[in-house]
Amino acid sequence: MVLSVKLPCYICFSFLTCFTISAQSYNSVTLGSSLIAGDISLPWVSPSKVFAFGFQKIESGSFLLAIWFNRIPERTITWSANRDIPVPRGSKVELTARSLILTDPSGREVWRARLLTGSSSSRGVTVASAAMLDTGNFVLMDRASAVLWQSFDEPTDTLLPTQTLNQGKQLIASFSRKNYSSGRFSFNLGYNGNLALYTTDFPLFNTLNTNYETFADQGFGSLVVFDQSGSLYLADSNGGVLVNIFPNEISHEKALYQRVILEYDGVLRHYVYSKSASRYGGWSIKSFTPDNICTAVIQQTGSGVCGFNSYCKLGDDSRPHCICPPGYAPLDPNNEMSGCYQNFAPQSCKEGSQDKNQYDFKVLQDVDWPLSDYEHYQNVPVEWCREVCLTDCFCAVAIYRNGGDCWKKKVPLSNGKNDTSVDRIAFIKIRI
Ligand SMILES: *[C@@H]1O[C@H](CO)[C@@H](O)[C@H](O)[C@H]1NC(C)=O
Ligand SMILES: *[C@@H]1O[C@H](CO)[C@@H](O)[C@H](O)[C@H]1NC(C)=O
Repeated sequence: MVLSVKLPCYICFSFLTCFTISAQSYNSVTLGSSLIAGDISLPWVSPSKVFAFGFQKIESGSFLLAIWFNRIPERTITWSANRDIPVPRGSKVELTARSLILTDPSGREVWRARLLTGSSSSRGVTVASAAMLDTGNFVLMDRASAVLWQSFDEPTDTLLPTQTLNQGKQLIASFSRKNYSSGRFSFNLGYNGNLALYTTDFPLFNTLNTNYETFADQGFGSLVVFDQSGSLYLADSNGGVLVNIFPNEISHEKALYQRVILEYDGVLRHYVYSKSASRYGGWSIKSFTPDNICTAVIQQTGSGVCGFNSYCKLGDDSRPHCICPPGYAPLDPNNEMSGCYQNFAPQSCKEGSQDKNQYDFKVLQDVDWPLSDYEHYQNVPVEWCREVCLTDCFCAVAIYRNGGDCWKKKVPLSNGKNDTSVDRIAFIKIRI
């Protein structure tokens, strides 16, 4: 049963979101309501139908319990409960007095909303209803309409206008364009108030790896705010702007859908979408950071932005493209970030082997794989650099810089990039 109710102001959970949701009406999802994955049952929608909560089928044929933009053909997902454990057809989500609970067809619990217990946590809290709000926030409430859980507190990779990111919270990028599992990048506001983009220690997520863009490292950030006018900023405890991440001022914000997402390629992007059908054109990028992800990320351990043995080139669309060098082929043709394998028999290291005649180089202008080197020579001519790599069975690529620097590199190659700033030549070894 769906009831239309006015949300009272005391459900406000933070000073920033209070104003915007206080005056909203919402459709109440009542206790005992449920949805089945793959069923024809309609999702739970917000009053304006802009957002919906329910099951979304993904590439693999399984389902995510998700929130999505419901009035655009793309059905863009903004949150999901079970990104790392997609469930099969027939799985069920049910609103009970204990919580919102997702179970698979065998009845095994896959996920449940962890309720805020508050200060008087000795008493068990009881859910009375739930609602999909027009902001894109899904909330569970008690009988007094106090919020017990909300999706805005547990973001996946996306922030919506009026949503905030508190200390200790993060956005984790999807693994790839079509795989929503937690991936290799994080936008993290630490308990210490530092805000940065990091690579993760995928697939563990125990620690953050390399920080590749810092917004605040003085330990003073209190929360990240994405406001209605399209600004994304780090605020202090009074809500004052400390660091502008995307200082947008969209004047016609009511005509747009907006989202900020940390995408699978490590770039934080602000997208807008015109609501008017006449100007239909899908999502377009309003702002993004870092400017050049290919040169921004350098990992001491790990492959860098692209997978091992590939190199990253920023396209005209400002998106990174991961390219396999000659002699190498993609590990997963459906995921260009998966890396590349050597597509030829390796050079023999056996003593007296004449194998080296079987090998030669392809020349790549302005390509380098920083940190993969195991030898460095100075003041040598380019011909010497090629020869010293050719006769060395361990050498996969020689990098030469005008002026006489020569580096020998070994596989797997990491942090590969092609950029004018590289200013070196790569001689990549291939089998003739
Ligand atoms: C998505 O990526 C994760 C992490 O690599 C992997 O475990 C999972 O099998 C992938 N899912 C699909 C449907 O390919
Ligand atoms: C690398 O980039 C430079 C400059 O953009 C270009 O001239 C060069 O051809 C590129 N190299 C490869 C291998 O694409």
